[in-house]
Amino acid sequence: MTVHVLREASADAGLPLVLLHGFPLDHRMWEPVAGRVDGARAVLAVDLPGAGGSTAADPALPEPALEASADAVAHALAAAGVDRAVVAGLSMGGYVALALLERHPGLVAGLGLVDTRSTADTDDARANRLRIADEVLASGSVDPVRPMAGTLVGETTRASAPELVEQIAAWIDGQDPGGVAWSQRAMAARPDRTELLRGFAGPVAVVVGEEDQIAPLEAAEHMVAAAPAAQFVVVPRSGHMSTVEQPDEVAAALSDLAARADSA
Ligand code: MLT
Repeated sequence: MTVHVLREASADAGLPLVLLHGFPLDHRMWEPVAGRVDGARAVLAVDLPGAGGSTAADPALPEPALEASADAVAHALAAAGVDRAVVAGLSMGGYVALALLERHPGLVAGLGLVDTRSTADTDDARANRLRIADEVLASGSVDPVRPMAGTLVGETTRASAPELVEQIAAWIDGQDPGGVAWSQRAMAARPDRTELLRGFAGPVAVVVGEEDQIAPLEAAEHMVAAAPAAQFVVVPRSGHMSTVEQPDEVAAALSDLAARADSA
């Protein structure tokens, strides 16, 4: 697994911030946020299995499961000398962050849940994912998921910043079809982790774009109601890709989360 150091820590830094990306993308969707986070802390972003520079074709990887992604993140962080961090994930990255909390609780000092949900897929959503995974594998291309570039962003971005849609489409085009199918199957298999979140006493930030149609406001409100120490940030003029659409707001929310984790 590839770990990208988006910012080096200085001597008096707080806990590192680890960023987990959404689907079907890679660590680059966090770059606009990384430079805007307060403080001297290290900012790391991984390419999850099957995305960016991390292959899912690794024969050591088991059946598609986000638990395998979480274990791979923990392993890569340990190799980088990180045994405790503030972990933030957007959408699929949020699912992996919750799996990380379940399987490696000592690693997670604070949790950023950005444009994501703690619940499992509905039967329809699961069937749709498996159908798309089959299409991607049958075509040997990412074409079946390319239209997501237009729906990941909100209506404000579609109208005012079409270059961001093109940027996201280019990121999607660069993904490995086998990895895209692996991620879809892994997401389809994930359980509801709302009860896990209810039991986490550490600081949580729940962040959602007010125009997010993929993990909408209600999904965020469900997590806020569950997490004992959640701060809730609704990002105006943003859809599902808040890290790219409105990076200042997301960075401010994560800076606050990291400060809370440092002082806990
Ligand atoms: C993502 O942004 O990671 C995906 O939209 C997640 C999903 O399909 O549930």
